[in-house]
Amino acid sequence: MSGLRPAAAGDFDAIAAITNHYITTTAIHFGYEPVTADELRAVWQDQLAVYPWLVTVDAAGRVLGYAKSGSYRARAAYRWTTETGIYLAPELCGRGLGAPLYRALLDELRSRGFHSAIGGIALPNAASVRLHERLGFVHVGTIAQAGRKFDRWHDLGFWQLLLG
Ligand SMILES: CC(C)(COP(=O)(O)OP(=O)(O)OC[C@H]1O[C@@H](n2cnc3c(N)ncnc32)[C@H](O)[C@@H]1OP(=O)(O)O)[C@@H](O)C(=O)NCCC(=O)NCCS
Repeated sequence: MSGLRPAAAGDFDAIAAITNHYITTTAIHFGYEPVTADELRAVWQDQLAVYPWLVTVDAAGRVLGYAKSGSYRARAAYRWTTETGIYLAPELCGRGLGAPLYRALLDELRSRGFHSAIGGIALPNAASVRLHERLGFVHVGTIAQAGRKFDRWHDLGFWQLLLG
């Protein structure tokens, strides 16, 4: 039994733990150093009025994953474009939790008047590519060898959804 709701300040220990799994053990996230709950909470809080973050929780209220939106680029004309991301607890991947969470984030972005969502995916990441394409995102380009992690180069693909 799980549910979706907007992220709250008390969720960030769990959000940081999920994020740090991908930072420290994979090239899915291009960070090298673990992030703290306070750092992530500050990012969320600074942008809260504009960019939604949602969490999936279980019946006991435990955070199972989160989907976030944020600035794509800072200049004024980019105001209606947002970069989105989604991370589930590793043991819960592949069970269909991602789509409803990401769909709810996209619905919230639509209701806030955003025009375009961009997902940047460090490649390879078959599950994320599949999720984005299932929700209507279209591949719009790839930056070859955009990041170097664990002694190898990774391309960064961009997928876009016009929210219309
Ligand atoms: C990406 C992620 C959010 C997808 O959510 P999920 O609940 O695991 O996805 P689902 O179980 O609904 O699977 C999505 C699709 O990908 C497919 N898929 C899942 N794992 C796969 C894999 N390892 N290889 C190929 N396809 C895969 C599923 O079959 C499904 O396809 P379908 O729509 O045809 O049924 C989740 O796996 C995750 O958090 N991964 C780690 C973090 C991450 O990669 N975040 C995205 C950063 S860009």
